[in-house]
Amino acid sequence: MENGQKVSKSVIIIYYSLSTQTAKLVHRLRKGFRQEGFNVQTLKLIPTKKLSFPLHSIPKTIFMMLTTFLRRRIPIRPIDSTQIKEAEIVVLAGPTWSYNPSGPMLDFLDKYIGLLKDKIVLPVISCRKYWRSHFNYLRRKVESAGGRCMQPIVFTHNIKEPWSTIGTFMTIAGINPRSYPLIRKHYPRYGHNKIQLNQMESKTRDIATSLMKSD
Ligand SMILES: Cc1cc2nc3c(=O)[nH]c(=O)nc-3n(C[C@H](O)[C@H](O)[C@H](O)COP(=O)(O)O)c2cc1C
Repeated sequence: MENGQKVSKSVIIIYYSLSTQTAKLVHRLRKGFRQEGFNVQTLKLIPTKKLSFPLHSIPKTIFMMLTTFLRRRIPIRPIDSTQIKEAEIVVLAGPTWSYNPSGPMLDFLDKYIGLLKDKIVLPVISCRKYWRSHFNYLRRKVESAGGRCMQPIVFTHNIKEPWSTIGTFMTIAGINPRSYPLIRKHYPRYGHNKIQLNQMESKTRDIATSLMKSD
C-alpha cells in the first residue's frame, strides 16, 4: 500500500496453444488477474512455420507424438523481451505434448530462460491427463535460471479412459470421434468444459489475491 492506495502488480501471460484449449484458459486467466487489479500483458508464442490443427493424418500424428517425446523444439518468432523484464509475475501456459512442454514452449525456454531470473513463475497446463513430467521439467528450468516456480494450475480433459486417449488421438488426427456412435457415447467433447473454464477464473482470482498481498 502507498498513501492508502493499492499498488498494481504486473503479470505477463506467455502461452502457446495448438488446438485452442490453453487459449480458452488464458482468456479466463486474463479476466481473473484483471478483476484483482493486476496489470496484465499477454504474449503468444508463434512458430516460424505455421502448425496446422488438426493434422489430417494418422502417420503425421504418430510422428508428431514421437518427436515431441524426444523434446523436439519448434522454433518461434523472436519476441519483445521488454514486457517480460517489466513483469513481476510470469505465467507460462501451454499444452503437454508427450509428457513434455510443447515444442514452441521448449524453444522459448532455450532462448529466453534468463529473463525469468527473480520472477515468480506460475505454470498453467492444459492436457488430456499426464502433466507431472511437463511440470517437473518447467520447474527445473525456472529454478536453474533463478526464478521462483509456483505450484501449477492444471486442467485435464476430465473424460474416462480409454475414451479420452482414443478421442484425443482421433481429434488430433482429424477424425471426428463423435461420428462413431460407441465413441460418441463416452466422449462428449474434446478439451475443457465450461465448468473448468469458470474454475480457471476463480482459481486465478484466489492466486491473484494472495500474490497481491505478498512482497
Ligand atoms: C503431439 C501431442 C502430444 C500430446 N501428448 C500428451 C501427453 O503426453 N499427455 C497428455 O495428457 N496430453 C497430451 N496431449 C493432449 C494435449 O495436451 C491436450 O489436447 C491439450 O488440451 C491441448 O492444448 P492446446 O489446445 O492449448 O494445444 C498431446 C497433444 C498433442 C498434439
